[in-house]
Amino acid sequence: MRTQIIGSGFVTGEHLVTNDQLARIMDTSDAWIRERSGVETRYYVEQGTSTSDLGVGAAKKALEDAGVAKEEIDYIVFATMTPDHYFPGCGGILQEKLGLGTVPALDIRQQCTGFIYGLQVSDALMKAGEARTILLVGAEVHSGFMPWTNWDYLFGRGGEPPTEEERAVITKFRDRTVLFGDAGGAVVLRAAEGDRGLLGFQVHSSGENVEDLYVPGIGFAHRPFVDVAQVREWRHVPEMNGRAVFKLAVSRMPQVVRELCAKQHMAVGDIDLLIAHQANLRINESVQKALGLPDERVFNNIQKYGNTTAATIPIALDECRKSGRIRPGSLVCFVGLGSGFHWGAALMRA
Ligand code: ACO
Repeated sequence: MRTQIIGSGFVTGEHLVTNDQLARIMDTSDAWIRERSGVETRYYVEQGTSTSDLGVGAAKKALEDAGVAKEEIDYIVFATMTPDHYFPGCGGILQEKLGLGTVPALDIRQQCTGFIYGLQVSDALMKAGEARTILLVGAEVHSGFMPWTNWDYLFGRGGEPPTEEERAVITKFRDRTVLFGDAGGAVVLRAAEGDRGLLGFQVHSSGENVEDLYVPGIGFAHRPFVDVAQVREWRHVPEMNGRAVFKLAVSRMPQVVRELCAKQHMAVGDIDLLIAHQANLRINESVQKALGLPDERVFNNIQKYGNTTAATIPIALDECRKSGRIRPGSLVCFVGLGSGFHWGAALMRA
């Protein structure tokens, strides 16, 4: 028995925002963002749209693509670092919004590696006989982190530009805010006979560098866990040591792919398509070079969506499935690294 991905789908936030639009509210430029990260556009939700809403939109598309009725879902796994509420997680909220009865809903939080951990957990649930048809969702509304209020002005529908003082604050966070977008992706997984499907996983976690990418405030290490002082000090906005994250990503991502291929008795050169997490195009170019893979065996779409954390890999997978980049029999490798830090890879025979 193998776990197969039988359907996929994704949705983005409603508002497409270009780099030039961001430059209206902070000191940045299209040239800087493109050259340093590869991002050209990203999407933001309209205020009021939540992570579970994006998850529901993506799940409906994945169910339709799979030709599976929602009643057939017997387990939900939801990966996000931007849940609708501090607690509970988004899994149960999505279950209710989709009308899935009382099927179990598991929330996981491995950030940019959430989808890969989600595949591993789903595969284990299938093999343990606990589920037959799993809905795995990765969704994020990063716009809640953004240190500005000038959304109307940004979207070009009136509103006020930031004051000089506000612009200086927004600019302080430009290294991270320009990278992220809002989106949701989902897959339907089913156990089936045969050799096609998920082949294996290699995942790691290390809390050692947690402060290189984390939200310093708003947590139960504080009493109260949220207060005005923390927000005034911008401790609800992620702290990111970009160079440190970059270095971890370019060493650990190729390494974990090599480890997994060795474990599966395969060569890195056997990989037909590498779908890496999309945090920075330069990271992915470095990973590709380290693995010695030609351009036609690597997929990137950060240009359009930016970094959408747990949604990134299912979005890329959906685009590859629907554009024919994944053919029957293709060996597909997923790899990612994210805050925590958590990193890992998965191999799939399409
Ligand atoms: N626009 C214009 N200038 C900028 C911007 C911006 N948006 N951001 C930073 N700069 C400036 C800096 O202030 C600095 O100026 P200075 O030289 O005058 O001091 C200069 O550009 C260079 O800054 P660096 O930080 O050295 O730029 P770098 O080339 O390292 O790129 C980046 C920064 C894009 C953040 C890169 O380090 C990166 O992508 N790191 C990895 C981040 C990542 O992967 N994060 C997500 C992980 S996934 C997850 O778990 C959520």
